[in-house]
Amino acid sequence: MAYQVLVVHGPNLNLLGKREPGIYGALTLEEINERLADYAAQGGAELRFFQSNIEGEIVTALHDARCNADGVVANFGAYTHTSIAIRDAIAAMAVPVVEVHISNVYAREAFRHHSYTAPVCLGTVGGFGWQSYVLGLQGLLFELDRRASVYKDE
Ligand code: DQA
Repeated sequence: MAYQVLVVHGPNLNLLGKREPGIYGALTLEEINERLADYAAQGGAELRFFQSNIEGEIVTALHDARCNADGVVANFGAYTHTSIAIRDAIAAMAVPVVEVHISNVYAREAFRHHSYTAPVCLGTVGGFGWQSYVLGLQGLLFELDRRASVYKDE
């Protein structure tokens, strides 16, 4: 059975391709989703995609994923640096959440150096452009395999 993975894109990521391409690259969100879905198909995972500019809608999507997904790959955008509500929603989940960022947030403004969400995520990937999503998905699938295996103590 394929792993069911929810991919969450937070605020302003619907503008990818047009938004600050020097930082976020030239690919649109749809193009990134297509590439990610191709990768997932090879790795035996099925993806669902969700984008919202609204904090509460992202909280609700995470609540839904508690029952409907095996794991989550999420770029919370600027909410990474501000949202206790999203942090609490992740903390309420048993399924793993991987935080991704297109840019290297630690090489940017100081206000991007703090993440409310990273401490309650399985791990974080950033700075690899759109491939950050692929690396995040790869890490999530490794973890799901580990949890399913007899070697889950390693
Ligand atoms: C981002 C980094 C955030 O600081 C920023 O607010 C974003 C995108 C990234 O993918 O690099 O919207 O999450």
